[in-house]
Amino acid sequence: MAEALDAAAAWERLRRIRTTDQALAAGLVADGDGGLRWAGPASPEAGWLAERYLPLCLAGPRIAFGQLGQSLDGFIATRTGDADYVTGAADRCHLHRLRALADAVVVGAGTAVADDPRLTVRACAGDNPVRVVLDPRGRVPRHSGVFTDGAAPTLWVVGPDAGAVRDVAGAGVDILALPDAAAFAPGRLLAALARRGLRRVLIEGGGVTVSRFLQERALHRLYLTVAPVLLGDGVPGLRFPGTPVMREALRPPLRRALLGEDTLFELELRSLGTQSGDPAGEQHRGAGEACGEGEHAVDHGGGEALRRS
Ligand SMILES: NC(=O)c1ccc[n+]([C@@H]2O[C@H](COP(=O)([O-])OP(=O)(O)OC[C@H]3O[C@@H](n4cnc5c(N)ncnc54)[C@H](OP(=O)(O)O)[C@@H]3O)[C@@H](O)[C@H]2O)c1
Repeated sequence: MAEALDAAAAWERLRRIRTTDQALAAGLVADGDGGLRWAGPASPEAGWLAERYLPLCLAGPRIAFGQLGQSLDGFIATRTGDADYVTGAADRCHLHRLRALADAVVVGAGTAVADDPRLTVRACAGDNPVRVVLDPRGRVPRHSGVFTDGAAPTLWVVGPDAGAVRDVAGAGVDILALPDAAAFAPGRLLAALARRGLRRVLIEGGGVTVSRFLQERALHRLYLTVAPVLLGDGVPGLRFPGTPVMREALRPPLRRALLGEDTLFELELRSLGTQSGDPAGEQHRGAGEACGEGEHAVDHGGGEALRRS
């Protein structure tokens, strides 16, 4: 009898899938329930990986997906900014899988300053995404790892008040200088990334950044992992103008899964629509795709595709 597909081999296949044809070629078949399953014998872990990540793999050529790991009371770090770690090892592995499925991973300046994160794929097999730092004021230190470690390409997105940011130390750091605050609108940022070949985008944190993408309906999908811990106060996770009455609260379709002691909520946000009725900033494709909407790429030709490492 054929040996059951193990988790490592399943992930090797899954992480390369972008289309249904590729899924079928990778050994998946229709499960009769609208989904796909492994055609041959597969371990429970291999089945779990397919169930969990295939919807993301097959979500289309342009997708923005967010993630946050939070306490039961809704905080993503302590009040000192310590987020090391809110959730457990299984969620860290999940986060690295999300990175491996992305062309780009986006963090806000607050996270880049507080964590000095590497943003690379280490807990699973996979290519590093391009690292994108949203830093309108240019306040992220030049000695930060994302600018100096050379582990993956980095795009430093700055605004007109950022001052001199050309003296970044590392190779592989590009600067995207945006003309004004409006150019930082999530839909326009996603369009600018798409022009650079970065179409599958993970918004990794922190709370301010993910909240803004959610609030402006620029996220297709959100992975929220809730850890069984209470912090009392700290850095908030999702915050956006709320609804006065419960019946108007957002209740997107979701799936749940256990990740060790944590619970993963996977929210499907397409059903919420967008301001333009076209999710993830598609409204800026077209005119913006060609002209760059006034953005100014300092260190490389505008529109040049960045490469994953
Ligand atoms: N548990 C988790 O999953 C997780 C994940 C990531 C980070 N964290 C923690 O979260 C904390 C940081 O989160 P945070 O919410 O304070 O900050 P953040 O989201 O990391 O950064 C917010 C800042 O980034 C810039 N920014 C982001 N999006 C922008 C946009 N669309 N337009 C313009 N500017 C934009 C702004 O910088 P300016 O203020 O300079 O204008 C904004 O104030 C850290 O303690 C980190 O450890 C936890």
